[in-house]
Amino acid sequence: MAVFKPVVLRSLDRSLRNLRGEKVPILAGHKLLYRCNLECKMCPFWRREDEELLGLADEIRLMDSLAQAGVSFLGFEGGEPLLRRDLPEILNAAHARFHTSLVTNGWLLEHRLPELARHLDLLFVSLDGIGETHDRLRGIPRSFERAVAGIRASREEVPTVISHTVTRDNLDHAERIVELAEQLEVGLTVQIAYDYRTADAMSPERVRLLPTIERLRDLKKEGAPLMESLEYFDAILGSWYHDRPWRCKPWLTINVDPAGRIVLPCYVLQEYKGSLPVWDVDVRALWNSFDWSTYESCNKCALACYLEPSLFRWTDPAHIRQRIVGAGLRYARRAVSSRSRPESSELIQIAT
Ligand SMILES: C[S@@+](CC[C@H](N)C(=O)[O-])C[C@H]1O[C@@H](n2cnc3c(N)ncnc32)[C@H](O)[C@@H]1O
Ligand code: SF4
Ligand code: SF4
Repeated sequence: MAVFKPVVLRSLDRSLRNLRGEKVPILAGHKLLYRCNLECKMCPFWRREDEELLGLADEIRLMDSLAQAGVSFLGFEGGEPLLRRDLPEILNAAHARFHTSLVTNGWLLEHRLPELARHLDLLFVSLDGIGETHDRLRGIPRSFERAVAGIRASREEVPTVISHTVTRDNLDHAERIVELAEQLEVGLTVQIAYDYRTADAMSPERVRLLPTIERLRDLKKEGAPLMESLEYFDAILGSWYHDRPWRCKPWLTINVDPAGRIVLPCYVLQEYKGSLPVWDVDVRALWNSFDWSTYESCNKCALACYLEPSLFRWTDPAHIRQRIVGAGLRYARRAVSSRSRPESSELIQIAT
C-alpha cells in the first residue's frame, strides 16, 4: 500500500527550496517503449518503431541523473509499459529513489499486478468511455472489459486512478466515467486529446467541448473524485473561451524518451522526440540556461501533467503537499475503504 516515503518528501522539500532561486524539474515522465498492444485513434506512439530499448543498468543511470536534477516523482508510461518483462526490476529501482506512478491501458494488468504493485505509489488505468465506445477508440475489442477487471484487482493493492482522455468521439461519456470511478471507488483524472501530427485528429471542437468541461467542473465542485483542481478547469475555460491564458511552466516536468533522451521543451510540442541522453547533460544547468519564456503563453494543450503543476503555488510547500501528496493518500484510503462495499451498477455489469 502506498505511503509517501520520507526520502521522497525530503527530496521534494529540498527541490522546493531551490525553486525560489532556480528552475528545477520536480516531476518526470519516462516512456519505457513506444510499442503497444492497442491501437488508439488519437495516439501517435504505437505507430512508431522502437529503437533498442535501455537495459536495467541504463534505466538506473537515467534515474540517478533525474534524482540529481531534483526530481521527486517519476511516472512511467509508453506505449504500453506492461509489455516490458523487466518492469518489476525497473520499478523496484525507481521506488527506492522516487514516488512512482505508472499509466497502463490495463489489458495485462490483472495478470502482472502481483509483481508490480509493491513498487508503485499510484496507478493510472486509461478508460476512454463505457464499453463499446472505449473499445472503438482503442481499436481492440474487449479492451474496456480487461481494463475494468484490472482496476478491480489493482484498487485493492495500489491507489488507482482512471485516466480519461476526452475526444470528439466520447464527449457524452465523461459523466458516465465519473459515475464509474465513484462506483469502483477509485480516482479520476481527465485530459483533452491533443492533435498530434502522426495520429488521427480526435481533439473535440471547442464549441462542442464547452458543456463537457463545465459539467466536469460542476461535478468536481459536488465532490466527484477528480484529481484535477477547480483551477485546472478554470484555466481551460479561461484560455480557450475567454482569451485569458494560463502561464505554462513546462520546466516543472522533465520527459525522457525510451532511449534516455530529454524531450525539450515539452512532451507535446516535440511529439515526444528526445535530443540529448539525460546522463550526458547537466540538467540543472540546461534548465536554467534554456529560454522557456516563449512557451509561457503557448496554451496549445490541456495535458494535466503540464497544466496542473503550472497552477501550483510552488513556493508554498503546504499547498504542494495538499495537491500532490494529499490527493495520493486520499485514493489510498478509498482503496482500503472500498473492500467491503458491494457493487450494483449497470456500468459495471457491462464489464462482468
Ligand atoms: C500514451 S498512453 C501510454 C500508457 C498506456 N498505453 C495507456 O494508454 O494508458 C498515456 C495516456 O495518453 C493518453 N493519450 C493518448 N493519445 C492522446 C492525445 N492525442 N492527447 C492526449 N492524451 C492522449 C492516453 O489516453 C493515456 O491515458
Ligand atoms: S494510448 Fe496507450 S494504449 Fe492507446 S495506443 Fe497509445 S500507448 Fe497504446
Ligand atoms: S501549453 Fe504548450 S508549452 Fe505548455 S505543455 Fe502544452 S504544448 Fe507544451
